[in-house]
Amino acid sequence: MPLLSSMTPSPHAAIIGASGGIGHELVSLLANDRGVGRVFAFSRVPIPARLSKVEAHVIDITAEESVREAAAVASADSPLDLVIVSSGILHRAGTLQPEKSMRELSPANLLESFTVNAVGPAIVAKHFLPVLRRGQKTVFAALSARVGSITDNRLGGWASYRASKAALNMLMKTLAIEQARRNPQSIVTCLHPGTVDTPLSRPYSGRVPASRLFTPTRAAGHLLEVIDDLKLDDAGGFYAWDGKAIEY
Ligand SMILES: NC(=O)c1ccc[n+]([C@@H]2O[C@H](COP(=O)([O-])OP(=O)(O)OC[C@H]3O[C@@H](n4cnc5c(N)ncnc54)[C@H](OP(=O)(O)O)[C@@H]3O)[C@@H](O)[C@H]2O)c1
Repeated sequence: MPLLSSMTPSPHAAIIGASGGIGHELVSLLANDRGVGRVFAFSRVPIPARLSKVEAHVIDITAEESVREAAAVASADSPLDLVIVSSGILHRAGTLQPEKSMRELSPANLLESFTVNAVGPAIVAKHFLPVLRRGQKTVFAALSARVGSITDNRLGGWASYRASKAALNMLMKTLAIEQARRNPQSIVTCLHPGTVDTPLSRPYSGRVPASRLFTPTRAAGHLLEVIDDLKLDDAGGFYAWDGKAIEY
């Protein structure tokens, strides 16, 4: 069964954040699936494209002109069927660390988290939603995180990451409504990949039991299954790796 059996035959996909742990595996799974057409892999530094159907290009999601150019490149010959934003930031060596308490809040860290986790994906949506195919199921999925659920927040901490993902969720919910009016078979959604063994989570996943720590390949497979199962009524929702809805 092709990975994207619910979409048009030979769907075209774009992965934003293709250099990341999950993004790279999304590219790899899609490129190795015979049913998938072209795969556009976008990252700040282009990834080596080992398969002919992969086209690696540069994107800086924090610079609108770069995003505009990326959308034009990916849709030059044909509309897209699937866009996944797999970019995100939780920590950066020496500066950004998830806050343990309010004493650690800093304007710079809050702004950096919002810039990469919320503003960037929203600008990607602004330029990529109009280049999705019409008349067939299409999906724009932004990778969010369960800790961005306001309802689910019982522990506190990680304020910048949590708040930036909550903002991402609101942006995607809002754009989902608008997109459904313009392109009724187009689904905008937020997905939680589970805890995945990548550079983003590694410093904080030491206590996660092995059974609940996914490899990037497994996580990418889960996400593509959820995407293929999405129905039009699911637009604007927030779903976990197993397809279960998460409350905002
Ligand atoms: N891993 C987990 O356990 C987990 C759990 C919940 C949610 N998520 C979410 O899943 C998504 C993918 O995470 P991952 O685990 O694959 O992380 P990752 O391996 O650290 O990859 C993150 C990606 O984001 C890109 N990125 C970071 N800062 C950027 C910036 N300023 N501008 C443009 N791109 C930037 C990176 O590109 P460069 O290579 O150019 O830096 C990289 O491609 C993220 O949204 C994350 O929040 C992950």
